[in-house]
Amino acid sequence: MSKQTVTLIKGDGIGPEIAHSVQTIFAAANVPITWEEADAGLYCIEKYGNGIPQETLDSIIRNKVALKAPTTTPIGGGHKSINVTIRKALDLFANVRPSKSLPGIKTRFDNVDLIIVRENLEDTYGGIEHQQSPEVAQCLRLITRSGSRNAARYAFEMANLSGRNRVTCVHKANIQKITDGLFLRSFQEVATEYPHIQHDDILIDNLCMQLVTKPEQFDVLLLPNLFGDIASDLCAGLVGGLGVAPGGNIGKDSAVFEAVHGSAPDIAGKGLANPTAILLSGLQMLRYLGLNGYANRIEQALQETLEAGIKTGDLGGSANTHEFTNAICERIAPEDESTALETPTKIIIEHEPLTVEQQPWSIHGVDVFVRSKTGLPVLPETIGDFKLAMISNRGTKIYPGVTPDILLVDHFRCRFYAEKPVEHDDVIALLNAFPKEYIWNHVEILHKEGDQPLFSKAQGE
Ligand code: NAI
Repeated sequence: MSKQTVTLIKGDGIGPEIAHSVQTIFAAANVPITWEEADAGLYCIEKYGNGIPQETLDSIIRNKVALKAPTTTPIGGGHKSINVTIRKALDLFANVRPSKSLPGIKTRFDNVDLIIVRENLEDTYGGIEHQQSPEVAQCLRLITRSGSRNAARYAFEMANLSGRNRVTCVHKANIQKITDGLFLRSFQEVATEYPHIQHDDILIDNLCMQLVTKPEQFDVLLLPNLFGDIASDLCAGLVGGLGVAPGGNIGKDSAVFEAVHGSAPDIAGKGLANPTAILLSGLQMLRYLGLNGYANRIEQALQETLEAGIKTGDLGGSANTHEFTNAICERIAPEDESTALETPTKIIIEHEPLTVEQQPWSIHGVDVFVRSKTGLPVLPETIGDFKLAMISNRGTKIYPGVTPDILLVDHFRCRFYAEKPVEHDDVIALLNAFPKEYIWNHVEILHKEGDQPLFSKAQGE
C-alpha cells in the first residue's frame, strides 16, 4: 500500500508530547502514513513574525491532510488565532466534533453518541470588530446563505454516510431573526434534499439545558460558529472532558484534524497530558483517508486500555502520557485483511452558485450610528429626502416619545426613512448634511426586497 503524507503540526504547550504519542501509536499499528512536520505556534511569532508560516500552509495544501496539536493564542497584541488563520486560509468550512461515551470513563451519562457539525468560518469569527466610541465596541456577525448551506449539507451528508438518522439545527432565530433566521432557513432548504433523514431545530439555550439532562436524545447537531464552539466544549464535558474530545476541520480540498482542547500550559512538559483527544482526532483522520481498519484496531486498543483502568490524571488515573501511550501500543492487534484500504469517508461539498435577489432591492432608509458627547442627539426632523423616524441607544428606542429610564451610552442609532425609494447618492447627501456636532462612524442602508424589510426593528420601535 502506498503511503499517504500527512502534515504534522506539533504546536505549543502539551502539543509536542501528545503529537509524539500519536506518532508512537501509529508506528506500532504500522499505519501507512509519512509525517511531514511543519511549524506553527507561539514560538513561530518570534521566529517568523506570525504564528503560522506560509510553508506550513503550503504543506497542508500539498498533502491535503494535517494533524495539528494545539497552539497557544496570545490574548491581545493583534495576533490572529492560528487555528482561525488555518481554517480561513484553507476554507475549512465545517468543524466536526464527535462526543461519544468511552468505556472505562465514568461520567454522569454512559450513552452519549452525538456529532456536532459547526459552521467554521463565519459568525463573529469573521473578527470584524470596531471600537465605535469610548463606550461601545462592536462586532459584525456575518452569516451567509452559502456558508450556512455548505455546513448544513455537510451535516446531512455525514449523517447519511455514518447511518445516522436525525440532524438538529441549533440557533437563536427568535432574537437574531435575520442572521440566525438565514442559518435556519438554509438548513431547512438543504433538509428537503434528504427526505430519509429527520430534521428539526432547537434554540441554543434549550439545547444546553437538554444536553446536561438528556444528551442521548441527540444525533447530529448543526450550529453556527460561536454556539458550536461553546456547545462542543459542553459536549466534551459530557463524555469525560477536554482530554477525550476530538475534532476535524473539513474543507472542499483539505482537512485538518485537531483535539478540541488547547495547549494546557499549566501541565506542559510534566508528562501529565492525556493524548486521547488528539489520538481520536487522528483516528477521525484515518477514516477520512479510508484507513478504517487501522483506525478500528487502534480504537479497540484505546478502549481496552481505558477498560483496564489505565488512565491519565485528568480522568482520575495515575498513568503518565508515556505509560498510557505504551499501554495502547501493547494492545494493538496484529494487522489482518481488515486493515485494507476502504472507501474514504471524505465528503466533497462543492461550493454553490451565489444567491441573487428574487426581486430587486430598493433603499428605504438609513441607520446612521453617531457618537454624541452630549446625550440624545438633537437632529432636524427632515434631512433631504429622509425623515427622522427613531433614535435608539443600545438597541432600545429612546426617541420619539418618553426616553425610558435606562443607561444611555455615547453611541446612538439615528434611523431615517424615505417616503419613496431613494438612491445611494441621496444617502451620501444625508451624511454630508448631517449636523457636524455628531460624529457619524457607521452607516447601514435599509433595504427592502419587494415589500419585505431586510432589517430589524429597534426594541420598542
Ligand atoms: P486548555 O484546553 O489548554 O486547558 C483547559 C484545562 O484543561 C487545563 O486545566 C488543562 O490542563 C486541561 N487540559 C486540556 N487538555 C488536556 C489534556 N490533553 N490532558 C489533560 N488535561 C488537559 O484551555 P486554555 O487554558 O483556555 O487555553 C490554553 C491555550 O490554548 C490558549 O492560548 C488558547 O488560546 C489555546 N487553545 C488552542 C486551541 C487549539 O490550538 N486547537 C484550542 C483551545 C485553546
